[in-house]
Amino acid sequence: MPAPPAPARDRAAVLCGLAGWLPPRVVTNEELSRRLDTSDTWIRSRTGIARRHFAAPGQATSDLAVEAGRRALRSAGVADVDAVVVTTTTPDRSCPATAPLVADRLGLTGAAAFDVGAVCTGFVYGLASAAGLVAAGVADRVLLIGADTYSTIVDPHDRTNAIIFGDGAGAVVLRAGHADEPGAVGHFDLGSDGAGEDLIMVAAGGSRQRSAPGPVAAPDHHLAMRGREVFRHAVTRMTASARATLTLADHKVDDVDRIVPHQANLRILRSVAEDLGLPPERLVTNIESVGNTGAASIPLALADATARHTIHAGERVLLTAFGGGLTWGSCLLTWPALARTDHPHDTGGTQEP
Ligand code: COA
Repeated sequence: MPAPPAPARDRAAVLCGLAGWLPPRVVTNEELSRRLDTSDTWIRSRTGIARRHFAAPGQATSDLAVEAGRRALRSAGVADVDAVVVTTTTPDRSCPATAPLVADRLGLTGAAAFDVGAVCTGFVYGLASAAGLVAAGVADRVLLIGADTYSTIVDPHDRTNAIIFGDGAGAVVLRAGHADEPGAVGHFDLGSDGAGEDLIMVAAGGSRQRSAPGPVAAPDHHLAMRGREVFRHAVTRMTASARATLTLADHKVDDVDRIVPHQANLRILRSVAEDLGLPPERLVTNIESVGNTGAASIPLALADATARHTIHAGERVLLTAFGGGLTWGSCLLTWPALARTDHPHDTGGTQEP
């Protein structure tokens, strides 16, 4: 049973459920090497990725989100929430938002439901939004789902992007509690720099392209990324944001037991840990088996680490992310004791509630 709402003075959002879900189809580097001018050796050495999961034809982001959401509710031991927040760069449609559909399919019709868009920083922005709803007393329980199907927007013939991205969904449940309990989320650091809009972009599909005269070029519907510049920004922005969060919380780098960065590229993650002065064993990563899953990447990495018992109750966990926008953000929390977390690679449980 969830704890009764805390008094307003120290009311905070507490993480009480966690789950991930990956579509069953696994795409290995070898498979990509058969149709692209690349190799397993190049992909592993430049990104740390060995395989990723792709949604089946006809499967959309909401389908993945529903699976992760159902499992997160089970992990929290709850059947209903006051709000459902979905964070994604690949919504089912540009209108309406994906969250109301996900809520309805989870039997949560009537709950507040909306999407948050911050590309690969989406989970941290979504966590801040969901935690804010709880802390402000707007909701007592929130389901937050990060879900992306990048396979639907990446050009399969673009060897730079096709090797990096994978599909997946991860979800957490937040409940009202106290700021000093394990699982209480915060402090946060969030930031953006829209001058970097063109570093990661899907040019077509929005009002900018729709209001322009003339036909749309097909490549404009695909994700375009300036890899080398993105790499540099990812390292510097995540490192600075992580430091800012520690300063806000009055903690030192050495107080961090586990850092869970957005799984962009293993070299990026190692650079962030190294620049912060954190030993490599404190870095949590699952990128080898899932690639970059966008807004799903942090909850999927957390679910993987929790199921493998490489993250433990009582440890101080630092989340940090970077993505298109440009956007970045970080959050600190003390890891709670979770009753149940299934491994995201266990793809069972596809029935509706
Ligand atoms: N296989 C083989 N060669 C490839 C390749 C692939 N899949 N992709 C690019 N190359 C080639 C390039 O064409 C280039 O060849 P050239 O030297 O003959 O011109 C060479 O490899 C080096 O390219 P470069 O872009 O400098 O490689 P890189 O080490 O920066 O790796 C990325 C490319 C995309 C893997 C890397 O820049 C990256 O991970 N960037 C960040 C991506 C990211 O995290 N995005 C999400 C952020 S939220």
